[in-house]
Amino acid sequence: MNWKDIYKSKVVTAEEAVVNIKSGYRVVIGLGASEPMMLVDAMVKNKENYRDVELVNMLTMGKGEYAKPGMEKHFRYNSIFIAGSTREAVESGRADFTTCFFHEVPKLFKKGCLPVDVALIQVSKPDERGYCSFGVSNDYTKPAAECAKIVIAEVNDKMPRTMGDSFIHVADIDYIVETSYPIIELPPPKIGEVEKAIGQHCASLVEDGSTLQLGIGAIPDSVLLFLKDKKDLGIHSEMISDGVLELVEAGVITNKNKTLHPGKIVVTFLMGTKKLYDFVNNNPMVETYPVNYVNDPAVIMKNYKMVSINSCVQVDLLGQVCSECIGKKQISGVGGQVDFIRGANMCEDGISIIAIPSTAANGRVSKIVSKLDEGSVITTSRNDIDYIVTEYGIAQLKGKTLKQRARALINIAHPDFRESLIEEFQNMFNYTC
Ligand code: COA
Repeated sequence: MNWKDIYKSKVVTAEEAVVNIKSGYRVVIGLGASEPMMLVDAMVKNKENYRDVELVNMLTMGKGEYAKPGMEKHFRYNSIFIAGSTREAVESGRADFTTCFFHEVPKLFKKGCLPVDVALIQVSKPDERGYCSFGVSNDYTKPAAECAKIVIAEVNDKMPRTMGDSFIHVADIDYIVETSYPIIELPPPKIGEVEKAIGQHCASLVEDGSTLQLGIGAIPDSVLLFLKDKKDLGIHSEMISDGVLELVEAGVITNKNKTLHPGKIVVTFLMGTKKLYDFVNNNPMVETYPVNYVNDPAVIMKNYKMVSINSCVQVDLLGQVCSECIGKKQISGVGGQVDFIRGANMCEDGISIIAIPSTAANGRVSKIVSKLDEGSVITTSRNDIDYIVTEYGIAQLKGKTLKQRARALINIAHPDFRESLIEEFQNMFNYTC
């Protein structure tokens, strides 16, 4: 059979496809913007036929109906990185959270800690040889499809075709549901004066020719605003958003000096607006690879002048960073933070930055604290942390004594909180600040 006949033989409706999910199965759903929404809707509608189906994903951008009250006996939701629509379910105990470095997720699926019964994915239309692209979401989605017993795919004609190690042949899909709807978009964040000041400080640490990793949100986008005068920057990042487009168009991001994949932007997933999705479509400048490659610290360190820029919830005066919970409330996950901080630190000329506003909750609390809130966890250890940046400046911690670290952090805390932090310093070290 040629691939077109194979393809036709696998086309079913979403309702027919989800009948293949059985009670007790573990179903892995594509990450973020690649969530196959018609399949998820059909699965939720078919709930009366399921008992204890475990649903696993990261960074859900869909409706999260499966985690709503009343769904417990049908579905058990297990998040590896909590986001919007399912946060409340985890907090209230109806859903679970599994902690894991992002680069290790494919290993969980492949080595049997979290074996995959069904991969529910969304891919592009096949090319002339029958290969569909994983588009905006390669990450754990491709590895999950490679080891699932059953692969059910929405083939969406709106899914961009990204290059790299990003393809699945139609012969390796068990059920195909043809769809045509816009890929979920993430609107650009609002960048205020605080973010601009942070962006400016971070940009001052970026040298020409550096390779960048940036997270999601206002701070990474603000850093990009201040890189317009730099030369030949490159990208090796867990993800990119619309913020990078302007720098590509301006010829600042050229990837020319990259030592690994020169000339290419390398990412594992994409999250932005249609403008970003159109840019990456069939664009040989952008390559996506599975997360066990992109986020592997041993791969990240091979880049030239690797700079990682991430954010956190709280940092204590020892430099211990919590990035994923507020007290005992889990709000996100470790994601790729430690992967990139370690990779950048291991890179010969690399630096790692945690960039944060000095306060949260409308200025009511300092993000620089003497002790992390009770119940919260250390996402990144004090030995991993190098630069902390706020709107008040830059604290460089590696090679510093405990007292020097604490003083450097107090100097970049919001002025309203410095006095109380100085008092805490005196209690901690039995010494005048
Ligand atoms: N005390 C109390 N509340 C705090 C707080 C603190 N110290 N810090 C943040 N918050 C609250 C904010 O007020 C906000 O509340 P709201 O949603 O009610 O407005 C919420 O927590 C989220 O904070 P915000 O600053 O808007 O978050 P963000 O979108 O910039 O994300 C992290 C910050 C740390 C949660 C996010 O970067 C993360 O999950 N990091 C870990 C994973 C990672 O780094 N991945 C990157 C690899 S690409």
